[in-house]
Amino acid sequence: MRIALFGRTGQVATEVQRRAPDGVTVRAIGREEADFTDPDSVQRAAQQVEAHAVVNAAAYTAVDRAEAEERRQRY
Ligand SMILES: NC(=O)c1ccc[n+]([C@@H]2O[C@H](COP(=O)([O-])OP(=O)(O)OC[C@H]3O[C@@H](n4cnc5c(N)ncnc54)[C@H](OP(=O)(O)O)[C@@H]3O)[C@@H](O)[C@H]2O)c1
Repeated sequence: MRIALFGRTGQVATEVQRRAPDGVTVRAIGREEADFTDPDSVQRAAQQVEAHAVVNAAAYTAVDRAEAEERRQRY
């Protein structure tokens, strides 16, 4: 089974990669390949992996910047 995992550098994605059971291939995808403010890049990346499942661990977690970046954190 192959999983496409977004948010490669984050805490959750790091643990998902570390704990993937035998038989599960995790293809971790970072912002440089798929930026959630650019939905087309996300679709392209997901299609390239040809995954059986997609896990999204990408998130706007910079809450201290949320007011200054109101548009960006809507994604
Ligand atoms: N950590 C926990 O204990 C925990 C517990 C329960 C639920 N959650 C939830 O799990 C999710 C992930 O949390 P986390 O702690 O792993 O967060 P995190 O460590 O801050 O990681 C967030 C990830 O999202 C990526 N990202 C941010 N904006 C992006 C964008 N526009 N396009 C693509 N990637 C983007 C970051 O990439 P860059 O490295 O490029 O910035 C980073 O890889 C959140 O929804 C959080 O609420 C976390």
